[in-house]
Amino acid sequence: MAGLGDRWRGVYPAYHKIVGVYERMNAAMTFGNADRWRRQAASLLDSNVEKILDAGCGPGNMERHLRGHIVGLDYSLEMLRANPYEDKVQGVFELMPFRDDAFDAAVLGYSLHAARDLEAALAELVRVAREVVAVSMGKPDNRAAEALARFYVAYIVPLMARLLAPALVQEYKALKTIFDSALRNNELRKLLERWLELKYFGTRGLGTIYIFAGIRRATPRRRTA
Ligand SMILES: C[S@@+](CC[C@H](N)C(=O)[O-])C[C@H]1O[C@@H](n2cnc3c(N)ncnc32)[C@H](O)[C@@H]1O
Repeated sequence: MAGLGDRWRGVYPAYHKIVGVYERMNAAMTFGNADRWRRQAASLLDSNVEKILDAGCGPGNMERHLRGHIVGLDYSLEMLRANPYEDKVQGVFELMPFRDDAFDAAVLGYSLHAARDLEAALAELVRVAREVVAVSMGKPDNRAAEALARFYVAYIVPLMARLLAPALVQEYKALKTIFDSALRNNELRKLLERWLELKYFGTRGLGTIYIFAGIRRATPRRRTA
């Protein structure tokens, strides 16, 4: 994607800095729903999963919703330092340092939207895990809702940051980059269906959040023009 590298340059360093305010801002931005939506996503996991990859684990906010042996993956050392997992690894979704089928399931809490290369991330996720479950920031299919969400991310989120994390307003502006680069939810769903048999795909918050769960396809579907 032309220019993505330049725009994304502001995204990754932002994660290093926001650890201390992360969950407070999350709760504010989602009107208190961030953790409820994590729980809803985690509840979609197959009941027999034991080995779980928490991909983009950040400070470990998914942990309380998961049962099993969890390994955390994150590219940000600052996030990993704040994370209580015993097993945690620094790495990126797009090139994971794990063998094939190392996990029963991969879970992503508000992290898949930050994949710089979504296709590569999905290929890796289904390589290392049979099941993939995620809750993340989406882009509404409805154009009015999309415009509202863009306004919210561009103007209201920085205002919230000014109140709750005044030193980190610039960092929270990175969410606008993520939003602008995101696929619309119906396009995302089509992409996911190439890699996964979806058990569930749903949206929350006017389409600004998506939740999905799926089992990897034996053979990924080809891209259609
Ligand atoms: C918003 S935090 C999510 C933390 C936690 N999972 C939760 O439920 O709130 C997103 C995390 O994903 C990590 N991340 C973003 N893109 C990544 C990538 N391509 N590879 C690995 N980690 C990534 C960031 O460093 C950050 O810690």
